[in-house]
Amino acid sequence: MTLFWSSWLSLFSFACWLFIAGVLFFVIKYKPTLKDDGTTGHTYDGIQEYDKPLPKWWVVIFVGSLIWGVAYCIFFPSMFPKSWGGLATVKVDGETVPWTSKNELNSDLESNNQVFTESFEKDILVNADAAGAVGTLDELDKLQTTLRRSDNPPADLQAQIDAKVAELDPYVAKLSQNPNALKVGSRLFLQNCAVCHGSNAKGAPGYPNLTDNDWLYGGEPKNILTTLHNGRVGGMAAWRDQLGEDGVRAVAEYVLSLSGNQNDYQLDKTKVAQGERIFHEPTNCVLCHGPEGKGMITAGAPNLTDNIWLYGGDRETIRETLRYGRAGVMPEWQTKLGNERIMLLAAYVYSLSDKKAVSTPAPAAKAPAATPAANAATADSAAPTEAAASTDTAATEATAEAAAN
Ligand code: HEC
Ligand code: HEC
Repeated sequence: MTLFWSSWLSLFSFACWLFIAGVLFFVIKYKPTLKDDGTTGHTYDGIQEYDKPLPKWWVVIFVGSLIWGVAYCIFFPSMFPKSWGGLATVKVDGETVPWTSKNELNSDLESNNQVFTESFEKDILVNADAAGAVGTLDELDKLQTTLRRSDNPPADLQAQIDAKVAELDPYVAKLSQNPNALKVGSRLFLQNCAVCHGSNAKGAPGYPNLTDNDWLYGGEPKNILTTLHNGRVGGMAAWRDQLGEDGVRAVAEYVLSLSGNQNDYQLDKTKVAQGERIFHEPTNCVLCHGPEGKGMITAGAPNLTDNIWLYGGDRETIRETLRYGRAGVMPEWQTKLGNERIMLLAAYVYSLSDKKAVSTPAPAAKAPAATPAANAATADSAAPTEAAASTDTAATEATAEAAAN
């Protein structure tokens, strides 16, 4: 509300209050001159008027409302909201702050979270044999509070927080084995994540499938935790200005030749060769997608050699990606959900991914995870081989769906 309207309303309310209090005062004080028979002499339609006092209960309620009105204005920011904050306070983040509806909401959320945190620590963590996480969570909470409160945080504070988050890794792995934790995790997923990743977590174009074992940012619990805490922004620049439409088409042809899609298309060999040269120029695609096009989790750059696509693996979509660039945004959840819920979500997501299926190029994770069939899938072609690498039906469906995309 503008200052004008709030002042106008304040003055108007105050004037009303004065008027009503004045009327009451006048009515109580006023003594009419009475006739001998005790009436005031007013007659209306045959009814004569006496001078009787107002009923007590009525006066009590009336005066009570007047006092209530004044007290309300003193305790809450009602008159001239910008200048009078009111005496009422609430506790937010351990500090006593003036009452506002926003502060009250935050305070309520905090006490709710307190209840959640307690049952998380006492029931879920203990049952999942992960009670060791409590100490780390406390230290994490302290660091986060420092960050929240300081206007000028030390440069390495965020790094310390990230390191603490990564220390939760083994506990998330334990939670991912615990049916109770997964049940809560799946509810949280439906409430917060399903809008983008789908209720089955299988994603949609631009929103990654979380049930395959193909990761943009890595699929270890600590990678998932970092993704959830801080959010991610995919950064793939537009290339048309630099490469021209011909260059875009050439390099798209080369990308097709790398992927499991190649058999669906008649590839233009000259373009593939031309595209390969562009791809491998040191400041071009190799920078993020790596010399073999297998992606890089530190850059969030997808593997281009499998047949799992974030935006789509048909010729036109690849050209579109290259012409205009892409920047998928995964929001941060730290400030919205807090550390405990993020642990449960990370455990749930970790439990969904099929660790036996073809793994992404994360150098450490690759060797042990890949079976001969999986290698064949990456090396030459087609989704069916890739799906065959997994024994789990859910994962087979996931891969098939990704291939369909
Ligand atoms: C507004 C849409 C949106 C919401 C809501 C959302 N995400 Fe995401 N998420 C994305 C996008 C887009 C990406 C891919 C980012 C990129 O392209 O770099 C992503 C990436 C991820 C990744 C990384 C996948 C990988 O391959 O490394 C994980 C894990 C993830 N999200 C989990 C979640 C969870 C859990 C939630 C719920 C708390 C959630 N997301 C809510 C849009 C969303
Ligand atoms: C600065 C790092 C970087 C460079 C350089 C780069 N990319 Fe990317 N690329 C990415 C990232 C990150 C994504 C994912 C974007 C997102 O998550 O929204 C991506 C996505 C893609 C996709 C979409 C894949 C899918 O699954 O839909 C293709 C295709 C692609 N890049 C090809 C290329 C080619 C070809 C070049 C060279 C001309 C190139 N990229 C250069 C980082 C890079």
